[in-house]
Amino acid sequence: MSKLIVLGVTGGIAAYKAADLCSKLAKQYDVQVIMTENACRFVTPLTFRTLSRRPVISTLWEDETQWRPRHVALANEADLLVVAPATANFLAKAAHGIADDALSTFAAAFNGTKLFAPAMNPEMWANAACRENVETLRRRGVNFAGPAAGHVACGADGTGRMLEAGEIADCIRKLL
Ligand SMILES: Cc1cc2nc3c(=O)[nH]c(=O)nc-3n(C[C@H](O)[C@H](O)[C@H](O)COP(=O)(O)O)c2cc1C
Repeated sequence: MSKLIVLGVTGGIAAYKAADLCSKLAKQYDVQVIMTENACRFVTPLTFRTLSRRPVISTLWEDETQWRPRHVALANEADLLVVAPATANFLAKAAHGIADDALSTFAAAFNGTKLFAPAMNPEMWANAACRENVETLRRRGVNFAGPAAGHVACGADGTGRMLEAGEIADCIRKLL
């Protein structure tokens, strides 16, 4: 039986690279995409729905197909959660157990393997709060892919660039 990967997409400019990741993963795994509301400002759910061949989850509140809350049902079925890109905001919420949208609630309910691929401005990545949040998450067993050093979309140079889709897919393969 094919593994079920939950692909979380958050609101950063690197969300366009998540479409490529989704396409690569869907060739090998079942993929359920969960987008934050802000991610939907960068790339449409339609793109991910088509690439994953499944409806995208972007809210906690619209599911009339089953009695069990979807984030709970999915937490029992999923083999791995990858969040790419993972914003500073998402990392902060995950580190503090905040569950206020579909993705952060799923992340709180899911006890399996997690892989976060951060992407942000280098100053945001260097920010003391972000450093502590990442350390907290690592200590709790969360895996990180990147970020890489280089030129980021906002025009700065430094560490904050999301890894390429192929590199993240390789990390997933190793973790599984
Ligand atoms: C054009 C633009 C690009 C952004 N890129 C990033 C980014 O790469 N990384 C990041 O952490 N936040 C980025 N942000 C800020 C996030 O969108 C913001 O923190 C938002 O609250 C994240 O919401 P989410 O984590 O629920 O998706 C960007 C904002 C804008 C307007």
